[in-house]
Amino acid sequence: MLNTRLTDRLGIRHPILSAPMAFASGGELAAAVTHAGGLGLIGGGYGDASWLTRAFAAAGNARIGCGFITWSMAQNPSLLDQSLAHAPVALMLSFGDPRPHAAQVRAAGALLICQVQTLAHVEDALEAGVDIIVAQGSEAGGHGARRATMTLVPEIATLLQRRSPDTLLVAAGGIADGRGLAAALALGADGVLMGSRFWACRESLAHPGHQAVALKSDGDQTVRQSATDIARGYDWPPGFTARVINNRFVQEWEHRPGEHRARAGELRAAYQTAVAAGDPDHAGVWVGEATGLIEDIESAAAIIERTVAEAEAIITRLGTLRDGR
Ligand SMILES: Cc1cc2nc3c(=O)[nH]c(=O)nc-3n(C[C@H](O)[C@H](O)[C@H](O)COP(=O)(O)O)c2cc1C
Repeated sequence: MLNTRLTDRLGIRHPILSAPMAFASGGELAAAVTHAGGLGLIGGGYGDASWLTRAFAAAGNARIGCGFITWSMAQNPSLLDQSLAHAPVALMLSFGDPRPHAAQVRAAGALLICQVQTLAHVEDALEAGVDIIVAQGSEAGGHGARRATMTLVPEIATLLQRRSPDTLLVAAGGIADGRGLAAALALGADGVLMGSRFWACRESLAHPGHQAVALKSDGDQTVRQSATDIARGYDWPPGFTARVINNRFVQEWEHRPGEHRARAGELRAAYQTAVAAGDPDHAGVWVGEATGLIEDIESAAAIIERTVAEAEAIITRLGTLRDGR
């Protein structure tokens, strides 16, 4: 058992959260992670009320949380009301200013989790009265920014120690096994949030065609880009890009954003057809550098058990270094 402040605060067995991944983290995945001893988060994504209703229903009575893309949810705040009505354990906000929504989250009795990519984001989160900060490094799958997990996590750990010692810290970005979990704890985190690893699991909503490509890809084959946002017509704020597999679609459009924008409307239906078909070449395949660490599509429970067992073994082995045994 790895007991940390995170397991205590959330009342969970293992210091592992699953990321609220748009289009991948439904209620089944969130519930599976929670039942296996972590905390599962539904991915509210770009906001679709009927999808959210189905996701909470699929989670049954499991203690779960929910996450939103903040700038998108702010355009339709009734999604936050809808989500909080299900009494989630925690509500995670990423990619946007959490401050306007913090009081509502707290009033509903949910813990506020803010995912941050910079130290400036930490300041906003502290002003919002955040309970748990997720420091997301650039290795991450999906949207993110430029800082690497290796330096972002300890820098924020030091900042929190000085300024807000009761705020918990979770590391994200490139963590997919026990090595990543042990490293995150060594860097000063209280636990980890894993996205890509759970994207590639049985309970994920990711298309098997995309998961199959990820199994064959290594970390070199991913790239941060914006062509997937242009294709879908999402107006992401500056500073955020998305890590996906560097496939034919990305190579065709990433270096021609002007032309892509001009033609995106006309091309959208074909893009969406490719997404629905799990076409690995003509749609974004949403996985991070951790794709190089993923070899099987397992159940969420198997991933959690193995990750914790590996981390425990590593921590024990590192202890023997000091004793010279
Ligand atoms: C397929 C996919 C979709 C994602 N969608 C979201 C999202 O909707 N909201 C969010 O806050 N983060 C999202 N993320 C980022 C995760 O929250 C998390 O930071 C990331 O997965 C951690 O890095 P890892 O993928 O290396 O584990 C997504 C990540 C992936 C892989």
